[in-house]
Amino acid sequence: MNGQTILVTGGAGYIGSHACVELLEAGFNVVVIDNLANSKIESLNRVRQITGQAVTFYQGDIRDKQVLTELFSKHEISTVIHFAGLKAVGESCEQPLNYYHNNVYGTLVLLEAMREANVKQLVFSSSATVYGESDSAQYSEHFPLGPINPYGRSKAMIEDILRDLSAADSITKSASPWKIALLRYFNPIGAHESGLIGEDPNGIPNNLMPYVSQVAIGKLAQLSVFGDDYPTRDGTGIRDYIHVVDLVKGHIKAIAALAGEGFRHGGCKAYNLGAGRGCSVLEIINAFEKVTDRKVPYQIAPRRAGDLAECYANPELALKELQWQAEKTLDDMVADAWRWQSKNPAGYA
Ligand code: NAD
Ligand code: UD1
Repeated sequence: MNGQTILVTGGAGYIGSHACVELLEAGFNVVVIDNLANSKIESLNRVRQITGQAVTFYQGDIRDKQVLTELFSKHEISTVIHFAGLKAVGESCEQPLNYYHNNVYGTLVLLEAMREANVKQLVFSSSATVYGESDSAQYSEHFPLGPINPYGRSKAMIEDILRDLSAADSITKSASPWKIALLRYFNPIGAHESGLIGEDPNGIPNNLMPYVSQVAIGKLAQLSVFGDDYPTRDGTGIRDYIHVVDLVKGHIKAIAALAGEGFRHGGCKAYNLGAGRGCSVLEIINAFEKVTDRKVPYQIAPRRAGDLAECYANPELALKELQWQAEKTLDDMVADAWRWQSKNPAGYA
């Protein structure tokens, strides 16, 4: 396994930079392509500071076929981990074409370049947001899909494309079939324990954890808790929070699985990456106050449109087939998020 070269698209971003650290520490060579649309090059300097090793960086767009072709001709890539994409739900409703162009068309260009270079192993960043309505709050991979916004639909469309691509191999009896893992993330939070890399959202955060961190550090006045009348144990929304380092370790397990017996004849399979248990908004606030010894002022606000009461993973398939499970606790997630926030109050700026 060591010595293999992995292409990480979107490697300067939040999850991508953590993946670079784990890949380098596991002995992989890493090539990154990122257009820095939602990240800063400083994240990769920090990756070097943590690991003592550098990634090869291409500042470029995955929709630029020429850059990808050049990159695949220069490096012997074994697997692509594809993080590059836009991810803000609200923005995707305002700019659907931009989201489909970036996420769906960008993936098509990447897949064409991979096919031409005969690189057929792919780990794709999908999301729990692809799931549709369900009677159960615990989601398994076979549950029906039914995303409700353009961002989620872009992920579901890419999943469809990847399943079609893999299915075509059995029709054409391809000698080198595609091997694809669709990793459906639940709610990644936290940061590397060094406090050197972490989530650095532009403007006012949409997601709970970065919002809470910015309230605790005094950048934002108070948190709005979106709804306290859900049918949950304390009335607030329940989600499956997963430490970003656990999450990226799942990608390394996926690379190993793609090279193993289970994917010997190719295939495209989805895996939930979650802890398998939910935490409420109030539980997150309490954990934050306990770990940081600071108050997190909040007010109860109306429910946010599109939110579910409760959503968490059934993570059994990832345990069985990837030998992966989340290990870190909520206190670890909060302590690491806080270390990053307090050491870098202005993010990477
Ligand atoms: P991020 O925005 O921090 O990272 C994405 C990176 O991709 C950024 O560095 C951005 O500059 C880059 N990028 C975007 N479009 C590009 C393009 N066309 N060409 C080259 N680079 C491009 O986001 P993240 O949180 O690290 O998420 C990584 C992936 O995981 C995304 O695909 C996201 O949809 C998915 N995901 C994230 C979450 C989450 O909560 N963070 C949950 C589920 C799925
Ligand atoms: C959101 C996205 C989802 C995406 C995920 C990435 C929406 C509707 N969904 O999921 O597509 O994959 O992020 O992690 O945007 N909350 C507050 N106050 C806040 C922010 C959030 O009370 O200021 C609550 C929410 O109502 C929810 C929980 O905190 O119950 C988590 O919210 P968030 O971090 O935005 O994640 P999701 O809504 O699960």
